[in-house]
Amino acid sequence: MICKETSANFLLLSFKLSMEHPRMLLFTLLIYSTYVTATHSLTIPRLSAIPEWERTVQDPAVIISSDTEDVKTFYYEQTLDHFNYRPESYTTFQQRYLMNFKYWSGANSSAPIFAYLGDEEPIDNSPISIGFLTDNAASFNALLVYIEHRYYGKSVPFGSREEAFKNASTIGYFNSAQAIADYAEVIIHVKKTLRAKKSPVIVIGGSYGGMLATWFRLKYPHLTIGALASSAPILYFDNITPQSGYFDVVTRDFREASETCYETILKSWSEIDRVASQPNGLSILSQRFNTCRPLNDSSELKDYLETLYASAAQYNRPPQYPVTTICGGIDGASFGSDILSKIAAGLVEFRGNRTCKINGPTNVSETSVGWRWQTCSEMVIPIGIGNDTMFQPDPFSLELFAKECKKQYGVSPRPHWVTTYYGGHDIKLTLQRFGSNVIFSNGLKDPYSIGGVLDNISDSLIAIHTTNGSHCLDILHANQNDPEWLVQQRKKEIEIIKRWITQYYDDLGAF
Ligand SMILES: *[C@@H]1O[C@H](CO)[C@@H](O)[C@H](O)[C@H]1NC(C)=O
Ligand SMILES: *[C@@H]1O[C@H](CO)[C@@H](O)[C@H](O)[C@H]1NC(C)=O
Ligand SMILES: *[C@@H]1O[C@H](CO)[C@@H](O)[C@H](O)[C@H]1NC(C)=O
Ligand SMILES: *[C@@H]1O[C@H](CO)[C@@H](O)[C@H](O)[C@H]1NC(C)=O
Ligand SMILES: *[C@@H]1O[C@H](CO)[C@@H](O)[C@H](O)[C@H]1NC(C)=O
Ligand SMILES: *[C@@H]1O[C@H](CO)[C@@H](O)[C@H](O)[C@H]1NC(C)=O
Ligand SMILES: *[C@@H]1O[C@H](CO)[C@@H](O)[C@H](O)[C@H]1NC(C)=O
Ligand SMILES: *[C@@H]1O[C@H](CO)[C@@H](O)[C@H](O)[C@H]1NC(C)=O
Repeated sequence: MICKETSANFLLLSFKLSMEHPRMLLFTLLIYSTYVTATHSLTIPRLSAIPEWERTVQDPAVIISSDTEDVKTFYYEQTLDHFNYRPESYTTFQQRYLMNFKYWSGANSSAPIFAYLGDEEPIDNSPISIGFLTDNAASFNALLVYIEHRYYGKSVPFGSREEAFKNASTIGYFNSAQAIADYAEVIIHVKKTLRAKKSPVIVIGGSYGGMLATWFRLKYPHLTIGALASSAPILYFDNITPQSGYFDVVTRDFREASETCYETILKSWSEIDRVASQPNGLSILSQRFNTCRPLNDSSELKDYLETLYASAAQYNRPPQYPVTTICGGIDGASFGSDILSKIAAGLVEFRGNRTCKINGPTNVSETSVGWRWQTCSEMVIPIGIGNDTMFQPDPFSLELFAKECKKQYGVSPRPHWVTTYYGGHDIKLTLQRFGSNVIFSNGLKDPYSIGGVLDNISDSLIAIHTTNGSHCLDILHANQNDPEWLVQQRKKEIEIIKRWITQYYDDLGAF
């Protein structure tokens, strides 16, 4: 789950954990062959802020903004294992973080620090893509810090990525508890080196990073005065949220955009199956969808389309609104077109028709590799497809999922650990008198919003959602053409953060 994506593989963006029908994932294996040899899918929920189609093709992503001359890179010597006192726990690795001092009025004025907590990707592009920080830093005189998540980008232990991902003994230190403990150490280190002891810290994250921001506020209240958690589905664990929720929302988005589009997609799966079952059917499908290589199985096409529709819903952003674009293509196909022509027209409308898209060569990004491990160990987000969607039903089976993970990594997932360690059940009852100062922001078009906190829990645990918003939209750059509801959402968030800071200074004065 990232707000922005850097991965090169569109298919791996798929949000489903479906293993019951082993699906071919269409990638070429480059580096991480030890772990990524399974061709069928641990097709894993990703929660990135930026859709795949906006990502640069290669990791690490290319930095483009002029703003980046203000961004300096630092490394912190991080402890491998915060929770053990065995000799090997004391091993260290270099953890990368970036700082932008341009707007900071300094330690002497106790000016705030905005700490962006990295998610499952390299941190390189965050200063550009997570525009909320740069857009608002000046009005807060804030220091901006972006901290990379362990095992991503340049923050990899054991000397190399190959070593780190070699087996469960080395990859086992890759989990959220270690990651937020890393963030705690980096924040303490930064405040110490800048002599900024009194500067209040606001943590900000999106998607998986938004979950980390929430959990950081709950676990480390002495290190942050508040968290902005954008599109953080902290309730999509342990069946708190129905498994079918994600694809129910995808379906609702399409249906709201166009009833006929929804109906065409609904009917398309059995049509694809029907054509595929005919003699020569797969080559007919390959031709009609202009696949890069001939299809071996109709599921290759169906998986691609399913992921495409899911991503379009998740990143259904203004001004293009991908769902509207796809439906425009489907509904706009010339009169008398059959179902498959309409589906193909939707695809072309959205992705263009210059090159083939389906079954093409793709690279496995480090996000795909890392997130796969994370979902197979701790981030077990049970997403299945229920009976009332525009897709073919495909329930989530924990048993099969666990079996596949065990096969790949030699260890089994712990599907109850997130709720054991961070909570989630009866969240309102639990947090209303305990937690404070978290903004849970969501866009309701985002299928992951179904696992987010959508109701106010207390005066300071606040849910701010927008009917037409999408995944992590609020923490991206503001733009002149932003719809009024988005402008208002950000404004509310900024007012709340200002209030936290004012309150903190009052408290600081009083003590
Ligand atoms: C900050 O305060 C310290 C101690 O009072 C002083 O030595 C230093 O010059 C101040 N720095 C700035 C940038 O004003
Ligand atoms: C992982 O690899 C290391 C080094 O090759 C080895 O010592 C260790 O036993 C392996 N662990 C597992 C769980 O296979
Ligand atoms: C389809 O199967 C053939 C033969 O097994 C294989 O060589 C080819 O790579 C497969 N194509 C894809 C896209 O997986
Ligand atoms: C691609 O789209 C353009 C413009 O819509 C159209 O003229 C062209 O025929 C299309 N090419 C193919 C191969 O579908
Ligand atoms: C995969 O990565 C290699 C090496 O970085 C690059 O040359 C190639 O263009 C990439 N291919 C795709 C499809 O992204
Ligand atoms: C979906 O339909 C199947 C087959 O009719 C049924 O066994 C299953 O219980 C249904 N699932 C739900 C969630 O209604
Ligand atoms: C939560 O409360 C804030 C005011 O503090 C309000 O702006 C917001 O709309 C409320 N959220 C919901 C979901 O009612
Ligand atoms: C959401 O978008 C739809 C379609 O453009 C529009 O009709 C509706 O008024 C919007 N709702 C809000 C709350 O902005």
